[in-house]
Amino acid sequence: MFTLAIETSCDETSAAVLKDNEVCSNIISSQISHSRYGGVVPEVSSREHLRNIITITHESIKSAKINLNDIDIIAATYGPGLVGSLLIGLNFAKSISLIGNIPFIPVNHISAHLYSNLLGDQKPEFPFIGLVVSGGHTLLILVEDFFKHIILGRTIDDAAGEAFDKVAKLLGLDYPGGALIDRLALEGNNEFHKFPISRVKGNKYNFSFSGIKTSVLYFLRKIEFEKNKNEQLTRDISASFQDSIVRDLFNKTFAAAEDFKIRNISVSGGVSANSNLRNKFKSVSGYNIYFPKPEFATDNAAMIGLTGYYLYTLSKNKNYFESESLKQTARAKFNYEMF
Ligand code: KG4
Ligand code: ZN
Repeated sequence: MFTLAIETSCDETSAAVLKDNEVCSNIISSQISHSRYGGVVPEVSSREHLRNIITITHESIKSAKINLNDIDIIAATYGPGLVGSLLIGLNFAKSISLIGNIPFIPVNHISAHLYSNLLGDQKPEFPFIGLVVSGGHTLLILVEDFFKHIILGRTIDDAAGEAFDKVAKLLGLDYPGGALIDRLALEGNNEFHKFPISRVKGNKYNFSFSGIKTSVLYFLRKIEFEKNKNEQLTRDISASFQDSIVRDLFNKTFAAAEDFKIRNISVSGGVSANSNLRNKFKSVSGYNIYFPKPEFATDNAAMIGLTGYYLYTLSKNKNYFESESLKQTARAKFNYEMF
């Protein structure tokens, strides 16, 4: 079965072709015009998607060495994301579906990140604890099976990637700044300064990253960063900031794994590319840790195709989505509500 997938939720225009659950092509065009504004400008993003969508889709079909007629299902991101950008991909995919009489599968972007490690050579087995860390989202999820999961925690304000991008901006780095901070931190001292992570009341698995950005801002003012800045200072601040974020993600993920006695941990989303995060997670023995290949870490259509493929095939089994098992497990075993 061939799936054509389209992703346009933010600043990547991407199209992919999958044969069952294997990727045949995954074409990604990252919009670079946002860097001069220091963040994604929705209007600019929509216009770039409009410009790119047909070429990118053609390229994905061509490099998969198939024809449009060979496509069995078409999947596209329906949300969350920038509405103007989502509409381009969604309506484009729906038009192909209508004209070709091909079933259309709407896919949730966060679900797609969650299952993106199943695109790798080493696929996590269920159940697993999924940490989704991207520019827009930070969630800790207990995944029992496909589409049977409980959100244990999420950020109550900024996402982890957003914190990286905002701190990068304060340091005068380009957008998006996560990878730049990662690179600078390699030669920085992570004990240079302690940037505290805010405690979240109520749910021990929730995150809060807006405070750390403010704490970096105040620190930069205190040391008169603009006047005194140099390469090593930027490296040390990057390393210290990154260390706090990574430590918090690490502690909460492993606390959940311990609490629920789950040995498989899957980290995905753009921030999962972070080298310090990878090293710290992989340094723990007794767990199976999964990270996506770089092309499946940031936004891509392959993960949308995979999720669409499983949604479609599993929906053939009428009972699959009606199962109460996870809700019961959540309430009875873990005393956790679905939310
Ligand atoms: O998943 P993604 O492409 O888009 C969203 O769905 O939001 O994630 C993009 C985010 C950006 O905030 C970017 O700064 C961050 O991922 N990022 C990183 C690294 N590479 C990308 N953050 C930290 N370290 C990295 N190496
Ligand atoms: Zn994403």
